Amino acid sequence: MTEEPLRSVSTDDGHDVTIRRLSEDDREALLAFGADLPKDDWLYLDVELQTPTTVSWLVNAVDARNWRQFVAVDGELIVGYANVRQLPGWKRHVGDIALVVRDGYRRHGVGRALASVIVESATEMGLKKLIVEVVKEQIGGQVIFKRFGFQQEGILAGHAVDYLGNHRDLVLLSFQLAEDTSS
Ligand SMILES: CC(C)(COP(=O)(O)OP(=O)(O)OC[C@H]1O[C@@H](n2cnc3c(N)ncnc32)[C@H](O)[C@@H]1OP(=O)(O)O)[C@@H](O)C(=O)NCCC(=O)NCCS
Repeated sequence: MTEEPLRSVSTDDGHDVTIRRLSEDDREALLAFGADLPKDDWLYLDVELQTPTTVSWLVNAVDARNWRQFVAVDGELIVGYANVRQLPGWKRHVGDIALVVRDGYRRHGVGRALASVIVESATEMGLKKLIVEVVKEQIGGQVIFKRFGFQQEGILAGHAVDYLGNHRDLVLLSFQLAEDTSS
């Protein structure tokens, strides 16, 4: 099934990138995207896109009520992936974000376009607050979300363990989508 294009980004080096929802036909392309991520990126990701079972799980969840998943594509090639997932229970008004762009397509606005689609769809889902956890060293992710108005809520010290076994600090950024009157 072909998903409707939501945004277009023309890169300075002549690529036309389209943002659309992830489709159940994207399994192989998403696997290839995960496999091509440089190992250093694994330091910064809590979505294991390099693991076939995780990729199958993501693709099988394209219609899940509590998730929205998006890809940036250049033709058949996936060059970016983002999701917003509604948290369960007493955090059900909160959405958690993941975002990654293919090395070689960075610094052309693809991350910003994916982030804007995420914020838009979170509003449609009725979420009131968004959070994103970014490894402290990942300046790009922090800059993108702060430009949307996200603010730092705190640092989770040594909260992530990377593939080398090193503990890393996570910066917790958040954004209020609408006035929360539930408390
Ligand atoms: C973070 C990430 C998604 C950014 O994607 P991108 O497509 O390069 O982002 P954009 O081109 O839209 O950048 C938007 C702005 O963010 C800032 N930015 C992006 N990467 C940056 C970096 N490495 N250092 C400093 N600022 C950066 C810039 O201000 C940029 O605008 P500019 O290029 O006009 O100056 C990408 O670097 C990535 O996949 N990193 C690994 C995964 C990750 O850390 N995800 C974030 C947490 S979920």
